[in-house]
Parts: sequence; structure tokens; C-alpha cells
Amino acid sequence: MNRKAFINIKQLLQVETNTLKLKVSGEEMKTLPLINNAYLIVENDEIVDFGEMNNFQNNNTLTTIDCTGQIILPTWYDSHTHIVYAGNREQEFVDRINGLTYEEIANNGGGILNSAKKLQEISEEELYKQSAERLDEVIKLGTGGIEIKSGYGLTVAAELKMLRTIKKLKENYNIPIKATFLGAHAVPAEYKGNKQGYLDLIINEMLPLISKENLAEYIDIFCETGYFSVDDTEQILAAGKQYGLIPKTHVNQFTSIGGIQKSIEYNALTVDHLELVSDADLAALKNSDTMPVALPSCSYFLSIPYTPARQLIDNGLALALATDYNPGSTPSGNMNFVVSTACIKMKMTPEEAINAATLNGAYAMGISNTHGSIAIGKKANIIITKPINSYNVLPYSFGTNNISTVLINGEFI
Ligand code: NIG
Ligand code: FE
Repeated sequence: MNRKAFINIKQLLQVETNTLKLKVSGEEMKTLPLINNAYLIVENDEIVDFGEMNNFQNNNTLTTIDCTGQIILPTWYDSHTHIVYAGNREQEFVDRINGLTYEEIANNGGGILNSAKKLQEISEEELYKQSAERLDEVIKLGTGGIEIKSGYGLTVAAELKMLRTIKKLKENYNIPIKATFLGAHAVPAEYKGNKQGYLDLIINEMLPLISKENLAEYIDIFCETGYFSVDDTEQILAAGKQYGLIPKTHVNQFTSIGGIQKSIEYNALTVDHLELVSDADLAALKNSDTMPVALPSCSYFLSIPYTPARQLIDNGLALALATDYNPGSTPSGNMNFVVSTACIKMKMTPEEAINAATLNGAYAMGISNTHGSIAIGKKANIIITKPINSYNVLPYSFGTNNISTVLINGEFI
């Protein structure tokens, strides 16, 4: 048996003692439950005890780790990424600096179709290697659970290649990984002018194979003007439902066209992006358990509006934060930057942002019963910071790496 005691912890964040919450919403998000001068005991992969330092009882079955001046919190849960992709699109970044818009680049055959071409050509081994490098990088940055989407394949073979790569990551990494099928990410060039033909391919060919190999737990669609409509969304979510796939959708990135309402109708776990939110969207969200997910690094990189976090939270809603790590709109998987940017640009308080990136992030991956807070019986996925003054330093010192070490399932990475 492996027992570790972390002692003299300056602040132990996101502690839960009584009934465990699956998520925090509205007013509740302003509170980040913590213990000053705390201890934490981890046995094998689980949290088994924690409390105030003056109640700590040492015994020689414990390895003790002194955390004087350091803060411990649950790892980040990144509920929206596209980290399985081939190569980069740094030329499009330069094109945007020189005046082209994201839409113009996409219309000229760049964007998602550019990544799809690269993805179709790459071998599964090389795709795995590139993706695993990204995963290694973000785990070191404190990500202890991640969702990964397909959607750069856009052919039967290439979508399966992406999803099998995610499956291999699941087998080789001991953090929770959730797979989302995003066949409806863009209409591939071969189906230009025949969007319904591509939707039929997704529904009649891709979905049965994905289900047979058990390659995904969630289904996604880019519901957006110029990509897929609300009617398309209905078709895809209904088809996914036949195979038990729960929706997590891309909605309201550039336009508000009713994707939120349609996703909620299909019991979506999350609706993601939401750079634009109308009163009708807000009303629909209020009557649901669907978690809105904001992706501030995407807003930062594309210079588009930020999700109106204040409006959502002040209306009593929950909010999760994720990276959107992908080669086009967000070539960064750093959740620390996301938390910082949420505070700086979206006026979230540090408490709200940390709640949104830990417990609510875990909810947005469907795992908040086992991950996302410091609670007895939960998995010991934790971040240990360098010595810092308070948790406010985490968002305050943007761009600085404040992490000393990360523990996954009770083991130092
Ligand atoms: O979440 N919005 C749609 N999909 C991705 C980006 C796609 C790309 O440019 O590669 C996103 O931002
Ligand atoms: Fe995305």
C-alpha cells in the first residue's frame, strides 16, 4: 500500500466534506471552499483524508511531503479539445495578421479543410506520436482529465483513424479521456454543394462503425452559419442518440441561430463556445442541466468576443472553462492561461474561474462524481503549486508557470 501525506499545505482548495456536488452554479461559484494550513492523505490512487494541520496524526506508514508555502488544488479538467490533429496551421496565423479573416481563410480552402487534408495523409502511428506529445505537455501544465474530438478526418477512414488514436491514448494514459465524434465539423470538399450527402455518410456509415468499435461517448456538430444548420444538428443529434451518444456541441461561436435550444432538446451535457448569447439562449439554458462551456483562449487567439461569463453566472447558471486546443482557432492547451484570461477578460473572480476549470470541468466530462474536487474517495489528481502568496496569484501572474508538481492517480508525473 502506498500512503502519502502532504503536510503544512498553505491552502488546500476545492475541498468538499458533506454531500458532494456534481457542479456549482451562479452565486455558489463565488465560493471556493478551502482549508488554510492543511494536510492531505492519498492512499494508492485515492484521497482518503484531509483537514487542518493541527488535527494531523503522523504514523510511520506514511511518506510525508512538506508543502510549506505551497497550494494544493484538484487538477484542471479540460472538457473541450481537438488535440488529435496533424501538423500546424501557422501560415494561416500569419495570413490573419496580414488582414485575412478566419472566415476568408476557411472559404479559400484553409481552416478545417486544410487540417483534414493533413490528417487524411498522416499515418496512424505519426498521428498518435504528435497527439501524445501534446497530451504530455498539457498534463505537465496541470490537466488531469481531457476530452478529445474527432472532426479533422471528414472521411470514414480518417474519422476512424482519429477516434482509434484517441482510444490508444485512453489505453496508454491513466487520466480520464473522453472521446467525442465530430464528423459534422465541416463539409468536405468532395461534398461541396451536397451537404446532405455528407450528413448521410455520417449517419449511415460512420456512426454504425464508431458504435461497433465503441470509439466515442459523445457526439458533436459545428452548428454555425456557413457550416451546419439547426436542422442538420437535429439530424446528427437524433442519429447519435440511436447509438447512445450524448451531445456536446459547438454553438454560438459567430452567430446565434438556435443551436443551444436544439442541443438542450437532446439533453446535451454541454454547449460550447457561446461567444454570442441572446436572451432566448439564456432562457433556454436556465431551464436545463446543460453546462455552458467557455473557451477564452479561442477568443484571445481569433480576437473575437469572449463568452459573457458575467451574464451567465449572474443569471444563476453554471459555467465551465476549457481550452479548445486545436491547430486553427486555439493552438494552446494551457488551462492556466485559460483561468487567467477568464479573470482578466471575462471578469470572472479567481474563485469562479477555479470552480469552472475544476469541478465544473469534470462535470462537463461526465466525471465529477469521481474527479474535480478534494473529497474522500475521489481520485488523487492534484496540482501542487510553487510557493505563492495566495490562490489569486494563479490567474494574476498570467504566463508564469506556478506549478511545482502534478499528481495523477496518486503518483507524481
Ligand atoms: O472549436 N469551431 C470549430 N472548430 C474549432 C476550430 C476549427 C479549426 O479552425 O480548425 C473550434 O474553434
Ligand atoms: Fe472546438
